[in-house]
Amino acid sequence: MAFPRCDRTLAWSALGGHLQAHGRDLNLRQLFADDPDRVRRLGIQAPEVFADLSRSHLDVATLHHLLDLARECGLAEQRDALMGGDVVNVTEGRAALHTALRAPRGQGPHSEQVHEALDRMLAFVEEVRQTAGGSMPGQISDVVNIGIGGSDLGPQMVVPALDAFVHPGLNFHFVSNADGQDLASVLRKVNPAHTLFVIASKTFTTQETMANAQTARQWFLDHGGQDIARHFVATTTNVKLAADFGITQTFGFWDWVGGRFSMWSAIGLPIALSLGSSNFLAMLAGAHAMDEHFAQAPLEQNLPTLLGLMDIWYRNFKGYTSRCVVPYHHGLRRLPAYLQQLVMESNGKGVDAQGGPLPFATSDVVWGEPGTNGQHAFFQMLHQGTDVIPVEFLLVKQASYRAPGSLTPAMRTLLNEQHHMLLANGLAQAQALMWGKSADEAMRESVPTASPDMAPEAIARHRTFPGNRPSLTLLLDEVTPRSLGALVALYEHRTFVSGALWGINSFDQWGVELGKALCKDLLPRLSSGDTSGLDAATAAMIARLR
Ligand code: F6P
Repeated sequence: MAFPRCDRTLAWSALGGHLQAHGRDLNLRQLFADDPDRVRRLGIQAPEVFADLSRSHLDVATLHHLLDLARECGLAEQRDALMGGDVVNVTEGRAALHTALRAPRGQGPHSEQVHEALDRMLAFVEEVRQTAGGSMPGQISDVVNIGIGGSDLGPQMVVPALDAFVHPGLNFHFVSNADGQDLASVLRKVNPAHTLFVIASKTFTTQETMANAQTARQWFLDHGGQDIARHFVATTTNVKLAADFGITQTFGFWDWVGGRFSMWSAIGLPIALSLGSSNFLAMLAGAHAMDEHFAQAPLEQNLPTLLGLMDIWYRNFKGYTSRCVVPYHHGLRRLPAYLQQLVMESNGKGVDAQGGPLPFATSDVVWGEPGTNGQHAFFQMLHQGTDVIPVEFLLVKQASYRAPGSLTPAMRTLLNEQHHMLLANGLAQAQALMWGKSADEAMRESVPTASPDMAPEAIARHRTFPGNRPSLTLLLDEVTPRSLGALVALYEHRTFVSGALWGINSFDQWGVELGKALCKDLLPRLSSGDTSGLDAATAAMIARLR
């Protein structure tokens, strides 16, 4: 199937024309004034996630052209090819079937092998959980996941997000960095007799993971650990290399699961250990509900599609270079990091799937911190800086965390008030970004902290907010395994949509290879001091480091 790349369509030209005529000057105050129905029209309910796009820089005509673009680029057909198991990862000759991992038994491609592997993993999970926290040797209290990138970020994001559901007898640790400090700081806290190490690596060749795994094994043996087979398991597609390492208990998956799409597979083992089987299945079911929405909802109501289209409008027409993700839920503090890999490793490409150079911008920069913390750091720039950065607010109606012991009514009231405070902050930031504050409004305020040596007009200019800064609000009722599954699947499909329209392969990552290869060459030079054939800057730095 060949579909035109976005820049070779009529809709792309129409979007360019629309940008010149109106799109450059889209003004949120005006858009709301012109269309009293805007909030309703741009409120999209998808499974578990409600999205308010009314504060985005989209008007009716923009949406109309964007939907035309999706049609001209064959988005529905490309989506069906993805979910049907076509070889969409053309540079590696593979399908990208993360959706098959969450399809109910008997549905979707590879169902038999997916569910067989899932059953086996969940049986192990229940066995560990049954005695978790016990004091007999071999009973597990600490799970240490050693993996990096897609073999780390999913579990590392999900486990704290679902803290309220985590087995009370289990602690989870995530080690990823080549820097031994990462591992050392975890090993300080755990006891070999009660620790389960999960060596997570799709390839089982990743330098950092292999180094951490070796050091962890050494520590285990040095500290009286006896039964490697019981205390080390692997989650990998490379059973042979795991066995060579000495691991007999392996939970497998397949080459058609991309690293950054793998938390639904065996890579999700720490998630399953923390939540238990039924909650892990609920997370898969939430993701599947979003898959069905993506597969079936009409384009105009299809949330991943609308968000992916908005991303294209923002990046290629409005020229926004980054997006700031701010979850107002402390448990979701690793979501921005998770999304960084998902979006930037998938769509940070300069050529299309056939290798043709792209004449337009692709992935934006994804960054963020949880609210309210970010408000006391970078929000200054979001409000008054010279760049417009669309902000994504994630609000959660109902607080969800493990309460500290039994709660007195007074504590309950205080914690409820804190949750309201959290929500009010999120709402206020979206409001401030949109409305801003004019110089006249600023002039009318009395500002006791302003310097008396400065003219009131100058102070007013410092206190002016340009406003008209776009934001998106995603609302969950509660962070549960099901809703989190749906949310992550939403982001996966959104990323696929922009990638598909840009014509790129969102499922490879050749851009990580060069640094890896150079590192292999440099590593022995750090010991030997041999700098022959190196560029002057690297050679000089090696000399300093030695
Ligand atoms: O370096 C990038 C990458 O290949 C990611 O795509 C992947 O998620 C990560 O490394 C870890 O790879 P593996 O699971 O094979 O150890």
